[in-house]
Amino acid sequence: MADNNLFPESFNITKTMRAELNGHKAALLWFTGLSGSGKSTIARALDSRLFNNSIRTYILDGDNIRGGLSSDLGFSLDDRHENIRRTGEVGHLFADAGVITMAALISPFRKDRDHIRKLMGPDNFIEIWVKCSLACCEKRDVKRLYRRARGGDIADFTGISSPYQPPLRPEIILDSEKFSIDECVDKIIVFLSNKEIINEPFGTTRE
Ligand code: ADX
Repeated sequence: MADNNLFPESFNITKTMRAELNGHKAALLWFTGLSGSGKSTIARALDSRLFNNSIRTYILDGDNIRGGLSSDLGFSLDDRHENIRRTGEVGHLFADAGVITMAALISPFRKDRDHIRKLMGPDNFIEIWVKCSLACCEKRDVKRLYRRARGGDIADFTGISSPYQPPLRPEIILDSEKFSIDECVDKIIVFLSNKEIINEPFGTTRE
């Protein structure tokens, strides 16, 4: 008897059956990095490349999720922890449904990311560090948030007044200062192909 009075159901359709129907396996690709490092841009390009090759994909993007599922949360340590936990649980469900799921969140704390890694189990969690120096992100400042954070307008801003802990052993590192978006996408495609999550690399076909 479950001590919380819950009795999880198991269903008829297995992960293997879904992968057979789809023609590819599922995974949670977790993009982490500073604001402005290129997480969403690379996820968007990867999404197109996979979709155009008949692969089922979806993006869970921090800025979008914070407009809905996490709209009650701010940027304190506890709130970020909860934001990552919720997105990780949703990513877990999407991957369980057979979708190659991309989560693009700053997710600055190792402990929170490791929690999702554990939830997903081996081979299903692909941590992708979009590596870009603070100086470069600040120079890009696409959303003009860094200048506002420097001016004291935004509290707990990652890289300025709140820490970022880079992954210690990510599956993939993408240096977005050195490499183009297409080159970063190529690297992920080759990884997915080597791990037999997808069947083959798609050559150089690009949008
Ligand atoms: S996380 O730390 O909880 O993973 P998340 O990726 O969801 O962050 O949201 C980050 C986005 O929120 C940034 O891209 C930026 O647009 C916005 N933002 C607003 N305030 C902050 C802040 N204090 N620190 C970082 N990003 C912020």
